[in-house]
Amino acid sequence: MKNTWRFGELEFQYVREVLDSGFGSSTSGSMNTRFEAAFAEKVGAKYAVTFNSGTSTLHAALDAVGVGPGDEVITTPLTVISNFDVILAQNAVPVFADIQRDTFNIDPDAVRKAITKKTKAIMPVSLYGVPCDLDAFDEIADEHGIAVVHDAAQAHMAKYKGRPIAEWAAITSYSLENSKHITTGDGGIIVTNDAGHAAKCRKFGSLGYAALKAQDGRIRNNKLIFQDPNYKRHDAYGCNYRMPEVAAALGLAQTERMDFFIKIRREIAAMYEEAVSTCDYLIPQAIPSHSESVYWCYTVSMERDDISWYDFRDKYIECGGDGIYAAWALLYDETICASGEWKRRAPAYYRDVVFDRAKFPIANEVQPKLMQFVNNYGSTDEALPKVEAMKRAIRELDKSCRRA
Ligand SMILES: Cc1ncc(COP(=O)(O)O)c(C=O)c1O
Repeated sequence: MKNTWRFGELEFQYVREVLDSGFGSSTSGSMNTRFEAAFAEKVGAKYAVTFNSGTSTLHAALDAVGVGPGDEVITTPLTVISNFDVILAQNAVPVFADIQRDTFNIDPDAVRKAITKKTKAIMPVSLYGVPCDLDAFDEIADEHGIAVVHDAAQAHMAKYKGRPIAEWAAITSYSLENSKHITTGDGGIIVTNDAGHAAKCRKFGSLGYAALKAQDGRIRNNKLIFQDPNYKRHDAYGCNYRMPEVAAALGLAQTERMDFFIKIRREIAAMYEEAVSTCDYLIPQAIPSHSESVYWCYTVSMERDDISWYDFRDKYIECGGDGIYAAWALLYDETICASGEWKRRAPAYYRDVVFDRAKFPIANEVQPKLMQFVNNYGSTDEALPKVEAMKRAIRELDKSCRRA
């Protein structure tokens, strides 16, 4: 089997339990419930609700905090398209705020300036595993009576001011897609300390079944009532974003092994850190002293004019490194945005909206310089040749530049 470090006996054991149980769905089985309870406890929250992606989680969360047509949601332009799409899915208006130069996370001062009477929610992202400034966002939200939906897709088990990140924000969302700290292949999970938010998220992700509760995804608790011809099943709008039981089995096993996954990402990040420590132009993403990153990847900003991003990438590969990931294009530069195609979703709300690039000078400057080094290897031994490749690339480029 490939990836033996990633999936082991525990995953097989729980998957077998699902198959042996007669193979129900999340509305009848118990594996989603077990995974939710374990995950909530692990990340320090009261309630958890599983989903089929870390995008559907965000969609449900926005709905749960009351984001609707014409409402504005403030988010970062340096993130995955999911954040933009879920705002559109609610016919709400995406509003961008610039990022911080050192952490690459959305800047609370820029968020403050972007607030209007129409703002309904802030959706900050803890980019690459570094917690965004959660205190500041909760403070802004309290001041304006709006909600924070924290996208922690890449930040499982990160800490902010010594505490689990899940203690901030109305709802915290995680992705379980295959590159994430723990994975179900595709999947997502939200956590919250508010029973009302949990119940709303669950209903939104499971067709609005009236029987659903904050901690219970089952819908046929009383078969006689459920099969009564007069029984009305649905009391809310919902999509079908449920997680299959087999995926939840993987999620439960991965949650129990989460400390191991976080530990190796941290160890590999420390190796990269050592490799760039003597290099004055690969500047690592800043981690505020009160925060603990979980290093979804190891990210640096390439701060040298005489060597291009491509030169470094090519040299790194030549030296035996894996491909370096570039940051996503800034959302307002993505074709769907720049072309105006997105406005077709709800022309009445979007007609007059303009994304003025000039308002985001830091994001514009930072995004083309970012290099994300892979660190989801199974061990430090596996990562070692890649870190050595990084050191060699730095040495060789230095030499060739001195010669030139
Ligand atoms: C910051 C961020 N938000 C949201 C998502 C969406 O998660 P998913 O791919 O599970 O839908 C991702 C995944 O790439 C992500 O990195």
